[in-house]
Amino acid sequence: MSSLFTPYKLGPVTLRNRTIRSAAFEAMCKDNRPTDALYNYHLSVARGGIGMTTLAYAAVCRSGLSFNTQLLMCDDIIPDLRRITDAIHKENAAASIQIGHCGNMTHRSTCGQMPISASNGFNLYSPSIVRRMRKSEIYDVINSFGEATHIAYEAGFDCVEIHAGHSYLLSQFMSDRLNHRKDEFGGSFDNRIRFAKLALEECLNAAQGKIAVILKMNMRDGCRRGMDIDESIELAKVFQKTGADGIVLSGGCVNKTPMYVMRGRMPIHSFTYSMPQWWLKLGIRMFGNVLIKPYPYRDLYFLEDAMRFRKELPDMNLIYVGGVSSRESADKVIDSGFQLLQMARSLVCEPDFVNKMQNDAHYVSKCEHANHCVASIYNRCMICHQNETEPLPASITNEINRIVRENQKG
Ligand SMILES: Cc1cc2nc3c(=O)[nH]c(=O)nc-3n(C[C@H](O)[C@H](O)[C@H](O)COP(=O)(O)O)c2cc1C
Repeated sequence: MSSLFTPYKLGPVTLRNRTIRSAAFEAMCKDNRPTDALYNYHLSVARGGIGMTTLAYAAVCRSGLSFNTQLLMCDDIIPDLRRITDAIHKENAAASIQIGHCGNMTHRSTCGQMPISASNGFNLYSPSIVRRMRKSEIYDVINSFGEATHIAYEAGFDCVEIHAGHSYLLSQFMSDRLNHRKDEFGGSFDNRIRFAKLALEECLNAAQGKIAVILKMNMRDGCRRGMDIDESIELAKVFQKTGADGIVLSGGCVNKTPMYVMRGRMPIHSFTYSMPQWWLKLGIRMFGNVLIKPYPYRDLYFLEDAMRFRKELPDMNLIYVGGVSSRESADKVIDSGFQLLQMARSLVCEPDFVNKMQNDAHYVSKCEHANHCVASIYNRCMICHQNETEPLPASITNEINRIVRENQKG
C-alpha cells in the first residue's frame, strides 16, 4: 500500500497527502505584487490534488529582490496574498511561501542599492560590484525574516520556507568561497551558519507555533570551496535542534552551478527569447553552454545524497526534492523514509499531476526536462514549452528536441 496519499502533520499543519509543490519562481508578479496569473496557477495546482503549494521566492526586504517580477513581503500585499491562500484552502490544499534574500545575485536597478553579501566582490550573474554587509545590516535582515513570517501568517499561509540554499544570501554566508569575514559571522562553521540559525530563530518566534517553519538547504553546493555533504549534515542537525519543522534537501548554486539544482541543460534559445539587448543575446548564444554547465538529468537525482541525511537525522521531517516525475518515483521517495516530497517541473507541465498519479499507479509525467520553464522566467514568466499557446520559433523547438534526445540517452 502506498503512503503517498495519506495525510501528514508538518508542525501545526496537516497536509492531505505527502506532496508539496516546491518553490519554483513563477515570475508572475507586477510591481512586486501578486497578479491573477499567480492566483490562477496556484489554484490549478491546489485543484490538481497537491498537499501543499508553495509561492516561490518572496524577498524579505527590498535589498533581497533579484527580479522585478518577484514578490516583496510587505503589509500592502496581505489582501492580495489572502485572496490566493483562501482559494488554495477552498480546494483543501495548504499554502506555503518561500522567503529569502538573494544577497549578491542582483543589480542596483532591481534591489535599489549596491548588492550586498558576506564579503566584497564582483558578481558575474548580475553583473555587479558587491558590498560586504555591516553587522547592523545583518541584524536588520534577520528582523526582516521575522517580519516576513508575520506577514505570511496574517496572509493565511500555513507554512514559511526559509531559502537557505542555492547560494542565496544565507548560503553565501555559509560558503568559504564567498565569506571571508573575520567577525562572528565568518571563519568557523559555527560562525558561517550563525546568520541562518538566527534567521530561523526569528521566524520561529514570529510563527509562535501557529504556522510551520521549514528550510530549503543544500546538501552540496556542487562547486569548488562550497559546502559539502558532511558539513551540510551537521547544519541540518543544528536546524533540527533549533526547532525547524522540516528540511528540504536540495543542492547547487544559482550563480555558479545553476543546472546542478535541476539537472539537464539550459536551453539557450529559450533563455535569450525576447531579450531586448542584442549584444547580451549574442554573447549568451555564443558562450551560454560554457558558462551554464549542463548536468545529466535522471529521475530522483538527489536520492543517494538525501539518504545520507535520512540515516543521520532519523527523527527529522525530511522533504525530498529533485526529479520526482512519476507515481513510481514518488512512491519510492516515501518508501525510502522521507515524510514528504516536493516537485517543480512536473507541476509546471501538468498542474494536476498529483490527481493523475492518484488515479493511475503507473502514471508518468509529460515533463521532458528541457528546462524551457527555467529559461522563461528570465524574460517572461514560468511556462512549459508544451503549454505555449503561440507557436515557438524553430530555433527554440529544435533546441528543445535536441535536449529531450540528450535526456533520453542519459
Ligand atoms: C522554473 C523554476 C523556477 C525555480 N525557482 C526556484 C526558486 O525560486 N527557489 C528555489 O528554492 N528553487 C527554485 N527552483 C528549483 C525547484 O524548486 C526544485 O528544487 C528543482 O526544480 C528540482 O525539482 P524538480 O525536479 O521537481 O523540478 C526552480 C525550478 C524551476 C523549474
